[in-house]
Amino acid sequence: MSKALLKEINKRKTFGIIAHPDAGKTTLTEKLLLFGGAIQEAGAVKSNKIKKSATSDFMEIERQRGISVATSVLAFEYKNKKINILDTPGHKDFAEDTFRTLTAVDSVIVVIDVAKGVEEQTEKLVEVCRMRNIPMLVFINKLDREGKDAFDLMDEVEQKLHLKVTPLSWPIGMGERFKGIYNLWEKNIKLYSTENKQRRTEGLKIEDLADPELDEFIGEIEAETLREEIDLIGGVYPEFDKNAYLNGQMQPVFFGSALNNFGVQELLDAFIDIAPNPLPKASEEREVMPEEENFTGFVFKIHANMDPNHRNRLAFVKVVSGKFERNKPYLHVRQNKNLKFSAPNAFFADKKEVIEESFPGDIVGLHDSGNFRIGDTLTEGELLNFKGIPSFSPEHFRYVNNADPMKSKQFEKGIDQLMDEGVAQLFTMDYNNRKIIGTVGALQFEVIEYRLEHEYNAKVTYENVNIHKACWVECHDEKSEEFLEFQRVKQKYLARDKYNQLVFMADSAFTIQMTQQKYPSVKLHFVSEF
Ligand code: G4P
Repeated sequence: MSKALLKEINKRKTFGIIAHPDAGKTTLTEKLLLFGGAIQEAGAVKSNKIKKSATSDFMEIERQRGISVATSVLAFEYKNKKINILDTPGHKDFAEDTFRTLTAVDSVIVVIDVAKGVEEQTEKLVEVCRMRNIPMLVFINKLDREGKDAFDLMDEVEQKLHLKVTPLSWPIGMGERFKGIYNLWEKNIKLYSTENKQRRTEGLKIEDLADPELDEFIGEIEAETLREEIDLIGGVYPEFDKNAYLNGQMQPVFFGSALNNFGVQELLDAFIDIAPNPLPKASEEREVMPEEENFTGFVFKIHANMDPNHRNRLAFVKVVSGKFERNKPYLHVRQNKNLKFSAPNAFFADKKEVIEESFPGDIVGLHDSGNFRIGDTLTEGELLNFKGIPSFSPEHFRYVNNADPMKSKQFEKGIDQLMDEGVAQLFTMDYNNRKIIGTVGALQFEVIEYRLEHEYNAKVTYENVNIHKACWVECHDEKSEEFLEFQRVKQKYLARDKYNQLVFMADSAFTIQMTQQKYPSVKLHFVSEF
């Protein structure tokens, strides 16, 4: 193991911020970049969220696509660490993108709005992180506004998100009465000033809360409340345990106001201290350690066609082990061919640049003319396939038809490439070969139609189809009578996904239930990996 490689690995922290839209993800990201000196002023990071009012406006999507490639990865240095923030779309129609991005992070920060508490998107995303034991920090935002009581909110986080929380900072009042933050981690107090909404002092070190200086500092009533609350915290919440955090068994909570730049530094400093360096990753063959000399990496996102005149795509590769080098041939395992990359990109807060080398934890952008599919593995020759980019059952389904028989080649290619990118999922019915597209949100059908026309010169029509869920089929004995009967009886509902896996296209929740009862040895899954 080379020392130089180890040094680079220990420098890196790669994470994602997850939140329900409007909780303050963009604002927090921006403040983190400001601390890192990566940007000079607020407002430099454009929000890539799709405004609620524009949900069916795909020109807006196109515009957003431009922004979101720029904010896909934001890298900056802070206290001698290299931090990579991977952007995760908050809009629920793009939840699948976020799930995939979460396969490339080593930890996450969950942002919650103090007034709204735990919201729907947060629940879904945290569930995915919890299933994978990803270390999570929770940031409760907008303390400058009236919101829920801090203890109630902690309970809500614990119950709705099924997390084991412990506070590392604690608010002193909120809204109009917001005085500041007690940092349980470093045992000091930072005061918040309502006049200029900024940090007022560098903080007061308080080793002992009984110290009368506290009364002077924040006021008698506030000091008494704080003493009581901190006392209560000691009795209610477990002590912070770094290993439990790293194993995904405990989640520290911070309070603050991203907009006012308050509590953000505490969060960032704790993050630098405790967040994991690049972690090992499981492949079908073995676990790959970051410090292995040979490069390995996987594609977790594909961004197509920023320029419609060149069918150019950018594949985002997370480096898992070794050193990635420009112009060195790497094995594209699925296609069994060697590829070289003459202009690999690295991402910074406000630009992307061609780089010579990259290390575990980093994200490299590779220009691609159609070789890559989400989940593909690159190695120095070893036959490895990284695990963990599952597909979830779509929510919306439609038959797709090629509307212009003269353009069937373009149509096939377009559909194929859009599916590789993960815009939607394609299912081919077994009995008549008809194609069905499944998406997470209704918006994607418009995206597909628009992009087929503009990028591939092909026309699509859709037809409604009554499907409730796509269920991936698992059966240990594929020769059993039961499985054969299942296939015979359900013939008209069976399809193949893009990887030729068998899928049962169920028309209702009731059908799923009945099918499970009738064929207990045939397991139906809503996720493609089980
Ligand atoms: P998102 O990326 O999670 O969707 O949220 P974003 O950061 O865009 O924040 C959503 C709204 O919440 C923004 O207001 C933002 O200014 C506000 N916000 C973020 N942090 C705080 C905070 O600590 N305190 C308060 N009071 N507000 C906060 P907006 O009006 O929707 O947008 P804008 O016009 O201000 O950009």
